[in-house]
Amino acid sequence: MKERIEELLQEIEQLTAQKMQDIEEYRIKLLGKKGSVTKLFEDFREILPEQKREFGQKLNALKQAAAAKLEELKEKLEENPEQGAAKFDYTKPGDRFDLGTRHPISVTREEIISIFSKFGYAVAEGPEIEDDWHVFGALNFPPEHPARDMQDTFFISQGDGENPILLRTHTSSVQVRSMEKMPLPIRIICPGRVFRNEAISARAHCIFHQVEGLYIDKNVSFADLKQAILLFAKEMFGEDSKIRLRPSYFPFTEPSAEVDVSCNICKGKGCNICKGTGWLEIMGCGMVDPNVLEASGIDSKEYSGFAFGMGVERIAMLKWQVKDLRHYFENDVRFLREFETVV
Ligand code: DAH
Repeated sequence: MKERIEELLQEIEQLTAQKMQDIEEYRIKLLGKKGSVTKLFEDFREILPEQKREFGQKLNALKQAAAAKLEELKEKLEENPEQGAAKFDYTKPGDRFDLGTRHPISVTREEIISIFSKFGYAVAEGPEIEDDWHVFGALNFPPEHPARDMQDTFFISQGDGENPILLRTHTSSVQVRSMEKMPLPIRIICPGRVFRNEAISARAHCIFHQVEGLYIDKNVSFADLKQAILLFAKEMFGEDSKIRLRPSYFPFTEPSAEVDVSCNICKGKGCNICKGTGWLEIMGCGMVDPNVLEASGIDSKEYSGFAFGMGVERIAMLKWQVKDLRHYFENDVRFLREFETVV
């Protein structure tokens, strides 16, 4: 019995509690009806009378020690309910903080910028709230051109009547601002947000991102344009990418073309991403119309240039086969987490 008492005393000494429930459990285990201390009191009845005195004292001391320890644990918990009387375990791994990830549109935008900066293009920026002149007039849009229509453009105010204030519908406006103020030659890309009054669907949004490119120098040719775009396509979609140009029309370029890149999913064989054609449209481009150069005070006899413009969402959709544009704007973490390894 003596040893059992010693044992229990030691056990009691080492008790720790993290919550009130622990203390209640100890109480039941030690002092409850079937508790180990209670049991010793039962055994005490069978002890020789001459030993009763000694063991009686020891047992009482044990019972008191248990009660005192429980009280002490309780007080500690009440003082500091968070940590309780528990010893802090420094060897435990720390709590994991979820790190945010960069948005796929930012990743794509930066990749486009980084590719063109390797080719010597500087980044130029311009205002999102623009005037009619920089978005349309200086870019050779005739006064009745449908792009100026209320259905496409968010107009903000009438301005001075001649030149309404609006949200830019494309980043080509930054071309104009750069031609007005930069010394020649100019070699820039203009990333930015653009706004169009469109119903939101899987393929269209009222806010999206474009990257515009502009190169103006003496003797710039269509071959230079083709080469710049081919190099870009190879960097963006893989070394074996091919491009093809289809004739098109933009008021600010002549000739104009639409650029397709060979489908990076099926390698040109035809799949559901490229709708069986083997090609994916990635941008518009062309030689800057002499009217556009002249409108910004550049001598079109001496200088020529090319321009191109692409949608960042479109490039990102092709790169990662995202089929619904709305994913980019909803910020659902389950979607964004898929790009963790890309970033
Ligand atoms: N601004 C055009 C758009 O928003 C894109 C574009 C096409 C830009 C051809 C260009 C270009 O610079 O040459 O659809």
